[in-house]
Amino acid sequence: MSEKKVIAVVGATGAQGGGLVRAILADREGPFVARAITRKPDSEKARALAGLGVEVVAGDADDPPSLDRAFAGASGVFCVTNFWEHSSAEREGAQAAAMARATRKAGVQHVIWSTLEDTREWVPLDDGRLPTLQGKYKVPHFDSKGAVDRVFAEEAAPTTYLLASFYWDNFIFFGMGPRKGPEGELVLALPLGGAKLPGIASEDVGKCAYGLFRRGTGTVGQRFGVAGDILSGPEMAAKMGRALGRNVRFDDVPFDVYRGLGFPGADDLGNMFQFQAMLGDEFLRRRDPERSRSLNPELLSFDAWLGANVGRIPID
Ligand SMILES: NC(=O)c1ccc[n+]([C@@H]2O[C@H](COP(=O)([O-])OP(=O)(O)OC[C@H]3O[C@@H](n4cnc5c(N)ncnc54)[C@H](OP(=O)(O)O)[C@@H]3O)[C@@H](O)[C@H]2O)c1
Repeated sequence: MSEKKVIAVVGATGAQGGGLVRAILADREGPFVARAITRKPDSEKARALAGLGVEVVAGDADDPPSLDRAFAGASGVFCVTNFWEHSSAEREGAQAAAMARATRKAGVQHVIWSTLEDTREWVPLDDGRLPTLQGKYKVPHFDSKGAVDRVFAEEAAPTTYLLASFYWDNFIFFGMGPRKGPEGELVLALPLGGAKLPGIASEDVGKCAYGLFRRGTGTVGQRFGVAGDILSGPEMAAKMGRALGRNVRFDDVPFDVYRGLGFPGADDLGNMFQFQAMLGDEFLRRRDPERSRSLNPELLSFDAWLGANVGRIPID
């Protein structure tokens, strides 16, 4: 019988949790085994994990009793929510709080909660620089996560807080890659307000989480922002251009213009980028690539990520 400790991984079929599961699998001599938590144990992704020898257990953050069953007997739990599936800050908060409570009920030793800043600590609701969204949020997909940190501190098993950065994978999957400009050149358009952007390969978020589980409960109560590189818009465009063998120009889109683009989440993302610019160096200090590399020695730089992924960036 295995003497290894079980890490129950929410989001195991997704980017962050998947990166953690693969990190656990890769460390064959390591102290952990992964348990993949999914709402759909019969899905292709879940069956692929089972095929790798991972225990797959049903669990749904909208169904708290299912979490009790999913976390039972685990030594560690990785908690992540997917705001973008429903875009409701209230629902995301309820899901995260349910996970927090279930970890304590299960008697788990170490939890990693994938959170983000509650931007309202810096930008109160009456600050007109950022429009208020969903009634009481400035950056809904940040605030709803950050607001639940208190629940983790008070009602979860011992928790370490992990803060991800902008995934470079957004250039592939989230429609943020370069577009053709008026003269046929490629244009990378993001609203950065002249600020630098901490970014990371989504796979590396889970690998950093693995580094935290390896460090153990000494990190409990601490916050770890993770990033692979911190780059300006023109620096990202130049690197992307070199990787593509094409000229890529950076267009720093005004925040109001971006918020008005009309795609789902444009207002939330516009506020997010503006918040990052408003926080400036403080936002960057919270996501230190060197500290991230100490958790995950394989952490990719943007150049390394481009080297592996440039062919997947869709060019219109
Ligand atoms: N994109 C970015 O640049 C970025 C940067 C920082 C943070 N984030 C945050 O990352 C989060 C998403 O993480 P991700 O990128 O790893 O997600 P993802 O790749 O889109 O996958 C979502 C995962 O969440 C699971 N899930 C969703 N709803 C669930 C529920 N009710 N109960 C149990 N599991 C559920 C899904 O599992 P099943 O479908 O198998 O059940 C799936 O594994 C978002 O909240 C976002 O705000 C994104």
